[in-house]
Amino acid sequence: MRQGKSKIRGEVQGTFLKGCVYVEEKFYLILAKNSAQMLLINKLLRENGIETDLVPSPPESGTVCAIAIKIQGVNLEKAKNILFENQIEVRGIYEDKKMKLQGLIDKKLGASVSKEFLDILKKIEDGDELLEKEIVYLLSTKDIKEIESIYAAADRIKRETVGNVLEIRGAIEFSNYCCKKCKYCGINSQNKIERYRMNEEEIMEVVGYLNKIGLRTVILQSGEDPHWGTERLIQLIKRIKIETGMRITLSVGEKSFEEYESLKLAGADNYLLKIETTNRKLFKTIHPDGDFDSRLKCSRWLKELGYINGSGNIIGIPGQTIEDIARDILYFKEMGINMIGIGPFIPAKGTVFENMPPGDIDLTIRTMAVTRIVCKKVYIPSTTALASLSKDAQIRALKAGANTIMLINTPAKYRTNYMIYNDKNMVDIDSAIYAAKKAGLELPKYLKL
Ligand code: 5AD
Repeated sequence: MRQGKSKIRGEVQGTFLKGCVYVEEKFYLILAKNSAQMLLINKLLRENGIETDLVPSPPESGTVCAIAIKIQGVNLEKAKNILFENQIEVRGIYEDKKMKLQGLIDKKLGASVSKEFLDILKKIEDGDELLEKEIVYLLSTKDIKEIESIYAAADRIKRETVGNVLEIRGAIEFSNYCCKKCKYCGINSQNKIERYRMNEEEIMEVVGYLNKIGLRTVILQSGEDPHWGTERLIQLIKRIKIETGMRITLSVGEKSFEEYESLKLAGADNYLLKIETTNRKLFKTIHPDGDFDSRLKCSRWLKELGYINGSGNIIGIPGQTIEDIARDILYFKEMGINMIGIGPFIPAKGTVFENMPPGDIDLTIRTMAVTRIVCKKVYIPSTTALASLSKDAQIRALKAGANTIMLINTPAKYRTNYMIYNDKNMVDIDSAIYAAKKAGLELPKYLKL
């Protein structure tokens, strides 16, 4: 479902012709009280023939990045009746308004940048969706003034959607065993590295520390390790919930619908599963034992199950074009992705890409900024991969649309073996606080230091 003018009856869809005046179609967002209710409503509406889309909820709804159900204005009354008949009381129903941003263009700027750029900026001001070729323009312009205004627009959209506060999450890379053959990744099954697997007690010790310093979310990441299967994960999730009440983000790869469902029921809140690239051919090249459609299906399941859904891509992976990156950004938008991890490619020792050049830092930061402009209210981490290439780049990203930092809390004795790429940097709480200060971001109120 696309906002604004799209096609109906082969002509202009989403627009009503009144005399000769085009009127934009309205969309509404239904905000449920919790994710179980959201899933129920989504199911009921779809069963009754109402087309729905799950999207990040708007800023005024309070919770950052919870999921809202988007419906077309023509279906509003029918949807309300369905809610009434099923005695469902929701948190609210809002019109899905475009985000207008007055003042991006001033006279001085108008005289110094291209007409094409001004037209794109005007669309951003009006809250209109950008086309692929416009995104390509933003990603590739070399004009300093234009680049500065892209970063300024991204920073403003960040402040107006998720605020000027740094989100801090703690990651535990609990196993580097992996059965996959991803060509770029240093822990792929064929790479000869020392393998480790943390046990539940070791993980809980780190979780206890993260809880003590006040963090709200723990990220559990690993290779696709069958010895840390779904049953064992469920036990761990339940224990974390009981002992700390923290939110849990899983990043443990592709699984079946039933597995994702039982992990969600056990208490997992968020899931990171990056698409890496939306170019199918490139996806196959870099994932010789992977399948683009399966990855896509997993991401859809995660969304349908009510996870806060994380995706992302790698910038500068050998064979990638700017058009590919533009399409990745449009994919994040269309899929209603809530967390978007954008990192530069970094060659990993022992892999077939070992001697390839790393991804471009500026292009990575630019992609983050354009993603903020296009996707608006989402979490964008200033990634560990970016910090690994340059600490300064991590700070620059926080000034250009990124709003999250993921700490690496894997115990020191294991950390050096979680080398998904070379010279992976250590991001700890002190460096996160330093980066926030340098980037002019507030620290979250939940930190207890
Ligand atoms: N360079 C950059 N990012 C990488 N990842 C894995 N290997 C590399 C690499 N060599 C990223 C992938 C994965 C995440 C956990 O790490 O995007 O989803």
